[in-house]
Order: sequence, then structure tokens, then C-alpha cells
Amino acid sequence: MTSQHADVDNCGPIFKSGSVPERYTITSALPYANGPVHIGHLAGVYVPADIYARYLRSKGRDVIFIGGSDEHGVPITIKARKQDTTPQAIVDHYHGLIKESFEKFGISFDIYSRTSSSMHAATASEFFKTLYDKGCFIEKTSWQYYDEENKQFLADRYITGTCPRCNSEGAYGDQCEKCGSSLSPDELIDPRSAISGNAPVKKETKHWYLPLDRYEEFLREWILKGHEKDWRTNVYGQCKSWIDGGLQPRAVTRDLDWGVPLPLPHTEGKVLYVWFDAPIGYISATKELLPDAWEKYWKDEKTKLVHFIGKDNIVFHCIIFPCMLKAEGSYLLPDNVPANEFLNLEGDKISTSRNWAVWLHEYLDDFPGKQDVLRYVLTANAPESKDNDFTWKDFQARNNNELLAVFGNFVNRTVVLTHKYFEGKVPSATAYTQADKTTLEEMCAYPGKIAESLENYRFREALNEMMNLARLGNKYLTDNEPWKVFKTDPERVKTVLNVSLQIAAHLSVLCQPFLPFTAEKLCRILNMSPLGWDEACRAELLSGGHTLNPAEFLFEKIEDETIQKQIDKLQATKEANLKNALPAFEPQKAAVSFDDFGRIDLRVAQIVAAEKVAKTKKLLKLTLNTGLDTRIVVSGIAEYYGPEEVIGKKVCLLANLEPKNLKGIESHGMLLLSENPDGKLCFVEPSPQAEVGMQIR
Ligand code: 2FM
Ligand code: ZN
Repeated sequence: MTSQHADVDNCGPIFKSGSVPERYTITSALPYANGPVHIGHLAGVYVPADIYARYLRSKGRDVIFIGGSDEHGVPITIKARKQDTTPQAIVDHYHGLIKESFEKFGISFDIYSRTSSSMHAATASEFFKTLYDKGCFIEKTSWQYYDEENKQFLADRYITGTCPRCNSEGAYGDQCEKCGSSLSPDELIDPRSAISGNAPVKKETKHWYLPLDRYEEFLREWILKGHEKDWRTNVYGQCKSWIDGGLQPRAVTRDLDWGVPLPLPHTEGKVLYVWFDAPIGYISATKELLPDAWEKYWKDEKTKLVHFIGKDNIVFHCIIFPCMLKAEGSYLLPDNVPANEFLNLEGDKISTSRNWAVWLHEYLDDFPGKQDVLRYVLTANAPESKDNDFTWKDFQARNNNELLAVFGNFVNRTVVLTHKYFEGKVPSATAYTQADKTTLEEMCAYPGKIAESLENYRFREALNEMMNLARLGNKYLTDNEPWKVFKTDPERVKTVLNVSLQIAAHLSVLCQPFLPFTAEKLCRILNMSPLGWDEACRAELLSGGHTLNPAEFLFEKIEDETIQKQIDKLQATKEANLKNALPAFEPQKAAVSFDDFGRIDLRVAQIVAAEKVAKTKKLLKLTLNTGLDTRIVVSGIAEYYGPEEVIGKKVCLLANLEPKNLKGIESHGMLLLSENPDGKLCFVEPSPQAEVGMQIR
């Protein structure tokens, strides 16, 4: 091992959290472009990131919101091989599909880029080269698995085998998906090439490692001391256990032909490790977006950098990427990494391979125009501090009982009554009661309350507050009953509808980060241009005499049969999975000694007569020639063989089993049977040459 020491302490400034940000760089994890995106992606990363970005823009802050596809890594090349196409063709297809799904859900990226772009290759190479030149890497030659047939090193998912932790087959060289353990290829039991299925050989190869162990002090200072209070408990806890567990050098290069080529001489066939290049993708996307102004979003200390990710990405965004940034020296560190836990679907883990997911492109087909409903449900049920479950029944209930019954009902009643009584013109308030004043005061407190939750990444809480404003409006209208009062006191109704319309206008501002399509519709109904967040601190957003547009429904009822279709679709997936699943085998029984085994007498016997045992479904009475004697054995195979079928068959007999009385017949031994995949039992038959009486060992 050769080691080029870098002085970590001189590798860049430690970001001072807490200073007032002049601008925000918001990144969202780059999804792998090897499959479509599902509700887990949306709930975990993109909806919260979008809410945050939309809120900040509404506050008038300077924000860039970065997204893109992660287009490198072994799984993409494996998929391409399986489909007999190129990795580029795979990522082109999925990048398009993913980008379109995000657009349709209103995820308001300033740029949605991709890591197969030339800008990204240049940026990632340059980053690597800077670290290399500063001596931040360790070069290490080691023996790694190699597939001789395909002439290829077997990195990460190219090597599979039995997991050393949970014993399940099909674990990968970097991870066991069954038990979630992080693995290295050398730990796999009975390793195999995922390409040829052959046992690999070992071959020497050189790689570059980032010595994370040298960053321990920096990480302790920056995360453990600096972010104990403001980072989520799950994020902080994971970081602490990685740091306390002892950090090891991490290889940042791979022997592959798909990825960013290593910018060093004589390194053909080597590329940057996907987790080295992917986070640099945030930087390349920013360069693409703002070729002349990108640097201040990454290097100016008055910028707040926030990474939105899922919990499986914590180590990369809180430990490895920050060490890379620190090593480079001129970049900011993230101020926060609000990682979500996982979203399950109907009680089961979302899984691409088992097709256990609600795919966004399918949702868009099945629920056209209902993007906000899903955004709402995923935020109301966001897995912020623990894994959560998405169920179609909950989806329906939240739409029908919350969005429709509270928000939609309130706005609709307000607008319809204004058209009915005042020709669609906002009536001026004539005299406020104490209750009106309290309602208006409460209304004006919501922008501040919601902002406080959003600034602290508590999106569920923020959404609930927004809905509390709708609840306030709905209750105000119900309490004041303008439809009854109008006959006797139309002046009073002017004030009631004015207050209600102000609440509706406030909702159009405050719901916008969560429900952008609804906000747009609401602005159209109220005939107002979208307002900024701080404008919602004023009580009067609609002046007397302002004309509204005709009422439209903001939400529609979702019927039982629509939901049942989705439940049936999942049920069909479950059944298909069960059919394809490997049978679950009984675990191995406890070991028996050689002596015990030696006492067992197994022999070849022949059935010479057979009859059904009366009054039973399962039993056949068999007469056997064992070579030693003729005896009776009762066997439970009558459901699978008729008596006439079995006569003459040679079978394997456990001859010295103690006699047992079965339905009044003494049985002298037991026949070996095996089960077919359909559950049918069959005789274990000895080889055709075996003679009656011969022993089976
Ligand atoms: O886990 C994933 O889906 C990764 N593709 C996330 C990458 S995030 C970033 F580093 F680009
Ligand atoms: Zn395992």
C-alpha cells in the first residue's frame, strides 16, 4: 500500500451553521435510471424537497432546486446485458420516463440533469484530479474477483453468493438485500459471477481509496458536536454509529467500462465509483443551470446547502460526500440532510423486483388530474421519523374526508354563495363581531406557524397547520350559516362571506407548496394572481367589489370501486409473486450422530399387493417383499396412487422402524416419499438395477 498523506485540517473551511442564508442550494437524491419511480421516491425525497423549494421561493428567497438521474453503477450495466442492449439505451429510456413523471407531479426542479452528460464527466474528473493532486487518496493494489470467461473484474453487484450474516443466497458483493448488511465481495460464501454464473478467480488490480479514517476528528466536530440539535435523530444516530464504529478507507474507483473514466494515465478500464461521481452530479447540474454563477451556490458561506434523501443514502451524504468536499477544500458542507425513513405499501416493503409499488406513471394514468391528492396523502403520512404505510383506504379517506369535505367544501360553499347573493363580487365587510376578529387574527397567524414548521423540515406538521386554516374556514362558515341569515340580515352575510373569502385567498398562498395544482385552480376561481408568502400576513387579500370567476370543484369524491381496482391490482401482484416464489423449505433438523445413522436400516423392497384401507382417504395397505420377508406397511399415499398403479413398484423402505398400529393394521416400516412442487407425494424409487433386499446407504 502506498500512501500519500493529505493534511485534513487544511482541506477546507468548516461551514458555520446558523448564519443567515442569502441563497439556498437544495438537492434531491438522483434516482438510478434503471427503473421508473414510485410513491416511495416521491414521499421520501421529492415531495418534501419540492415543498421546501416552493415555500422558499414564495418567501422571495434565492433558491436553486437540483435534480437529475444517476446513470452509472453496476445494476444499469446488468440490466443492459439482460436486455441485450447498451447501458446508454437503458438510461435514455428511464431518464425520460422519470423526468416526465416528476414534471407531471409538479416537482419544481430548476434543472433535472443526468450523470451521463459531458458536463458531469468533466466536473467529476476534475474533482477527482484535484483530490489526487492534493494527495488525498491512498493507492492500493489488491486481489479482486475476476470472471475469466468474460474477462471482467466483478465489482459490487457483479458478484453474488451466500450472505455470511443471514445465510440467504443471492447476496451481492456490496450488500445483502435480505438482511440489509453492507458486505464486501470477499465476505460472500460460494461467490459466483453474476454474468456467467462461474466461480470467479482472483486477479490483482489497483484502486484509489479515500481514507475516511483520517476525517474522523473533522466529522466528530462537524456532525457530533455541531449538528446534534438541528439534524433529525435518525440522521444523527446513523452518523454517530458510523463514526463510532470506526471509519475505513473507501475505494472510489472500479474496474468497469461504464462510468466516468479515471483521469489518470494508464488506467484504461477503470472508472469512478458510482457513489463518488453521483453526488458531484449536483454540482455539474448547477454548472449546467448557471454556467457563470454556479460557484456562489456551492462555495459562498452565505449559501445554505440542504440535501433531501432517503435513509439508505445517509452515509453517502453525511460522511463520504462531505469528506470529499472537505478534501477538495473550496466547497460548502451541507447545513442539513433531512433524510426520511421508508414508506411501505399495504404493510409490505416497496420492492421493484417484486413489483410491489405504486408506479407514478401508472398513477398518472389511473388518476388523471389528481396529483395533489397523492402529494397530500404522502405528506400527511410522510415517514419523517419512522417507516410509514401507504394504504389505498387511507388514500381514499384522506381525499374524501379531508381534502374534499373540509378544504373543497369550504371554498366551494364560499364561492357559490358569493355568486348567489352578490353576483360573484367580493362583498365589503360591514361590521366585525368579536368572533370575526378572532378568526381573522387566527388566520393571520398561520403563515408564521407553517413557516416555522417548514424551516425546520417538519412537513407533516406544516401540512396539518395548513389544513387547520381550512378547518377554521369551514367551521366559521358552518357556525355563521350565511344561507340562513341572508333572509333576515343580508348585511351580516356580507361580512361573513368577506371573512370566508379572505381565508380562501390565504389558503391559495399557504397551500401552494403542498398542493400546487390546487393553488393554481383556487387563484383562478378567486381571480387573483399568485401572492408571496409574506403577503398572506395581511388580513385583506381580496378587496370589496373584486369579481370572482365561476366556482369549480377543487377535489372530487373517490369512489369505493376506484379504490377496489387498485387493491385488486396489488392482490394480483401478490398472487403472481407467490406463484413464482421458491417454496419455503423447512429448516434443517438437528444433527444426528454417525452411530445413530448407522442404526437405520434402509432397503429396496417391492410392492406385491395393495388395497385401500377402509374408511380412510389417505391410506394404502401394501404388502412388500423385502428380500428378508413379506410384510405389511401402511402408507399415506392413497390420494396420489391407486392400488393397481403401485403393484410391482420398487420402493425405498425404512425397514427397522418400530411397528405401529394404523387404523387397526400393524405397519412394519415406512416408505420414503418425496414431495412435488404441486404438493403431490411420490415414492422415492431406487435405481432400476437395484435388487429387492439391497441396502440403501
Ligand atoms: O440510492 C439511489 O437511488 C442513488 N442513485 C442516490 C444517489 S444520490 C446522489 F448522490 F446522487
Ligand atoms: Zn444477509
